[in-house]
Amino acid sequence: MEPKQSELLDVEAIRKDFPILQREFDGTQLVYLDNAATSQTPDQVIDTIADYYRETNANVHRGLHQLSQEASIAYENAHDRVAEFIGAEGREEVVFTKNATESMNTVAYAWGLAELGPGDEIVMTEMEHHAALVTWQQIAKKTGAEVKYIPVDEEGYLDMDAARELITDDTEMVSVVHVSNTLGTINPVSELADIAHDHDSLIFVDGAQSVPHMPVDVQDIDADFFAFSGHKMLGPTGIGVLYGKEHLLEEMQPYLYGGMMISKVTFEDSTWHELPWKFEAGTPVISQGIALAEACDYLDDIGMENVEHHGERLAEYAYDQLSEFEGIQILGPPGDDRAALVSFNLGSVHAHDTSEILNDFAVAVRAGDHCTQPLHDKLGIAASARASFYIYNTKAEVDKLVEALEETEALFA
Ligand code: ALA
Repeated sequence: MEPKQSELLDVEAIRKDFPILQREFDGTQLVYLDNAATSQTPDQVIDTIADYYRETNANVHRGLHQLSQEASIAYENAHDRVAEFIGAEGREEVVFTKNATESMNTVAYAWGLAELGPGDEIVMTEMEHHAALVTWQQIAKKTGAEVKYIPVDEEGYLDMDAARELITDDTEMVSVVHVSNTLGTINPVSELADIAHDHDSLIFVDGAQSVPHMPVDVQDIDADFFAFSGHKMLGPTGIGVLYGKEHLLEEMQPYLYGGMMISKVTFEDSTWHELPWKFEAGTPVISQGIALAEACDYLDDIGMENVEHHGERLAEYAYDQLSEFEGIQILGPPGDDRAALVSFNLGSVHAHDTSEILNDFAVAVRAGDHCTQPLHDKLGIAASARASFYIYNTKAEVDKLVEALEETEALFA
């Protein structure tokens, strides 16, 4: 359905904050539709990073001098801001990492190696990103635990009856993606959390594609662990977040050792710093964390309900327009029930060719397996093209995508 202007954000004003969107390639203005891979960065976030290095740069938690104290306070406050953004109790539950993948590895190594053994089961979904899938697969191999997958049905939804069968008293961890980066499916993570908890299992939610696009409250979901990245939500690269319930993080041993994460060190042994610093060994992601807090401010100023609505309306419009192409294969649920992305194959045109030709029209989309190889194998395809939207995208840009696809189709006719 064609979205009315009143249903969309004031994109003209928003776009002024994103200098990169003015770029042209051979005189054609960039149409950036690869937001599920990484989002663009507003001036407010760029300025926060630059200001930090111009005015505050120092190492944190080490110096008694003024700069170090200012940097430490800004860095600690950034944890509070992110905690507020996702509905965590407080900074104790928010660990800054390099990216969502590192957040998952932290739990897999720190919790999984200690807690899992033969007879234990890890339940994932067939639409997991490699970040979770490969990580738990390898931890299972190291511990003797078994991995099981909740199937994805033909429409791209999880088979919840199968989920209820697969999650049993042998399950120790349910690891599930909140929003599929390939299908655009929004998974019922609260329901899965209830099922997991009924069997005394923990649940880990991969929120890489949800936190940037919709209001998320980790306590409402009742997630035990939750991971996401800053660079998909207007922040810089090099910052990820691991949320964990405080009592679980308290019980876990650190994953990385070194400075910053210790309390007392002797030649014989060491004790650990309080949360969340116990999990932030070495010089942490200071400027990135402070910039991520700024990105949270930017998104909250727009309102996450509005962000969600805008992305979903654009995805629905794109879905409807793409459906008009003969022989197109669109992955995942119907247009009115998906997150802000659409993956597709244009007839027999390889996704890489589609992406290259779209690039000639300055339309940037991702092509490949989107780090979900087993899901693509199940669908019987090697790759797909993916258009993914964010707050600065317009209906006119979807129209440009469609026009460029018409040219692509004509070239391969
Ligand atoms: N996981 C990111 C994507 O889907 C990189 O593109």
